[in-house]
Amino acid sequence: MSITVVILGAGKGTRMKSKKTKILHEIGGIPIYLHALNSTEGLVPSKTLFVTSRDNQALIESLQHFDVKADVVIQDEQLGTGDAVAVALQSLPELTGIVVVLYGDTPFVKTSTLTKLVRSVEQDVPFAFLGFETLHPGNYGRIKLDTEGYIQKITEAKDCNHVDSSPSLCNSGIFCSKVDVLTKLLPQVSNENSSGEYYLTDIARLASEQGIKTRLVQCDEHETLGINTRNDLAVAEHVFQSQMRNRFMSEGVTLIDPNSVYFSIDTKIAPDVVIEPNVKIGKEVSIDTGAVIHSFSYLEGCTISEGAQIGPFARIRASSEISKDAKVGNFVEVKASKLGARTKVSHLSYVGDASVGEETNIGAGTVFCNYDGVSKNKTVVGSQTFIGSNTLLIAPVEIGNEAFTAAGSVINQNVPDHSLGIARKRQKNLLNKAPNHKFRKG
Ligand code: UD1
Ligand code: CA
Repeated sequence: MSITVVILGAGKGTRMKSKKTKILHEIGGIPIYLHALNSTEGLVPSKTLFVTSRDNQALIESLQHFDVKADVVIQDEQLGTGDAVAVALQSLPELTGIVVVLYGDTPFVKTSTLTKLVRSVEQDVPFAFLGFETLHPGNYGRIKLDTEGYIQKITEAKDCNHVDSSPSLCNSGIFCSKVDVLTKLLPQVSNENSSGEYYLTDIARLASEQGIKTRLVQCDEHETLGINTRNDLAVAEHVFQSQMRNRFMSEGVTLIDPNSVYFSIDTKIAPDVVIEPNVKIGKEVSIDTGAVIHSFSYLEGCTISEGAQIGPFARIRASSEISKDAKVGNFVEVKASKLGARTKVSHLSYVGDASVGEETNIGAGTVFCNYDGVSKNKTVVGSQTFIGSNTLLIAPVEIGNEAFTAAGSVINQNVPDHSLGIARKRQKNLLNKAPNHKFRKG
């Protein structure tokens, strides 16, 4: 049977207290909704519909940015999750097969769990909700089963009149159904509840009353975390980071203090990399075997090759490549630059828009002056070259191979291979002219 995925993302997300659409907030460096969407890829849906509100240009741009292959459906008024699904189905009147509904604010469901849900509708009953057992039902809808173990009804937390302290069965919001049966029942969903909304969950009550069976498929509580508040967002980030840390350690990466290292969803790390405490890895980073990332370093958009040493207190920014056994030491920032094999920038330097050859030494306090106030310019430094401490390299400029710049030089002309560039005033000693520097005590 063909599968259509519907992602709901039109809600206002008022509980986030944000100008930004709730599902555009990020976990692991990508929007919340994209996690949910990625989990549906394994179902190989024939179509994906994304329900959003009118004027949500930011969401539409995000879908384009991440090249999401989904048809956007506009829900004019946010009348509830039941209405959102009805609007999605109305956009495809000829639709048949199975529909899987996910909430854009529920990021962690596994593909294998979705497959279980779909199987139960393919082989068993027309409706299935994904639920979970929890000691902390919070704001989740409560599931009540009938004597045969099918779902009898789902009551939203707001509409519950007592708090049950025993483990509760809760609704994840993820739902699967045969299109034809759903299309028949959706118009009957009522909005007689404390929010005045058309709840998708009302389908369970209607089905039960009409003798149609709704299966409960259960999963782990972690998979169903729904994000409504900033607190939920922090919990979700924590869950995501724990999963990444465990994954990397199981793949042979040493994390000395796992809880203080943060990754992005696309981070790639080879075995035998060591990461010290308090490191943040932003998007598009790959680190090859034997590299060490020392404490308090912040990396994004870079490739760190085998055996390279980074930090402590290093900042590596987008489009940077640190080659084999190279070293980026303390208080060094590298941006859009390539450092060749065994090249060292050990202390207090800024390397921007540069290409540096192999086995070159960049002395302490070197600044690659890449910006002239209007545009960014490139600096090329050759191999086995020595850049003296406190050199200013004013781009565009080229320093050759086995060249040398004298400490404290302001270099704004090319230095050929094997040459010494010196650009500073000659020292003069004024004999017996030292000022009196015997400081008074106290
Ligand atoms: C929903 C479920 C609840 C479940 C919980 C799991 C309903 C009525 N309740 O509650 O049983 O335990 O999720 O996290 O379904 N949306 C629209 N259009 C609307 C309203 C909402 O697209 O008119 C979207 C939202 O953007 C969101 C999703 O639907 O992505 C869920 O809506 P939300 O208001 O967060 O529902 P909950 O109160 O969390
Ligand atoms: Ca929610």
